[in-house]
Amino acid sequence: MTWSQKTDERAQAIIARYPDPRSATMPLLYLAMHEDGHLTEDGMREVAARVGLTPAQVQSVASFYTMYKRDRTGRYLVSVCTSISCMLLGADDVLAAVSEETGVADGDTDEDGLFSVEHAECIGACGGAPAVQVNYELVEGVTPEQGKALCAWLREARPEVVLGDEMQELFGGQRSFEWGPSETAGAVGPFPAFEPYGTAKEGR
Ligand code: FES
Repeated sequence: MTWSQKTDERAQAIIARYPDPRSATMPLLYLAMHEDGHLTEDGMREVAARVGLTPAQVQSVASFYTMYKRDRTGRYLVSVCTSISCMLLGADDVLAAVSEETGVADGDTDEDGLFSVEHAECIGACGGAPAVQVNYELVEGVTPEQGKALCAWLREARPEVVLGDEMQELFGGQRSFEWGPSETAGAVGPFPAFEPYGTAKEGR
């Protein structure tokens, strides 16, 4: 496989930051996901060739972390935290509501490739439980009704860039902290928003 010129340039720039190319394995796995929408066998082989590891070594890294999606993933990955703080404040009901609204079971992706739904372990927003992420952009204090409304909005508005602050304003409740700086860049796909990888974009 060949990556686009832009992805190729990004990969080269990232590799050049490190004394040893293999240190770039994890960033390059995100580039591979961005290129194909999820992590493919070809994508992992491409990463291996670029960082000087074997495909098996790259796969062993990719398979360790849940954020490297090796199966087809929807345009909007909705992750509902079901760890203890969120669970005590109704996360199971939020997850059920999200599944009902999207028609997608926990761990699954719909036919159209619009939604993937998953439960997640603690996402570091316990003070704003129950917490939800869309493409790893955070929304806190989400009730089952707000979870449904969030998914209905994603389906109708189909935002090209998913912004945590925007979703918080529209569908969130109690937050962990109110003093964080607002962010104008968000995620452009079912992977985290990183400006150097091209997976972040200004949204408004
Ligand atoms: S338990 Fe849900 S964010 Fe920590």
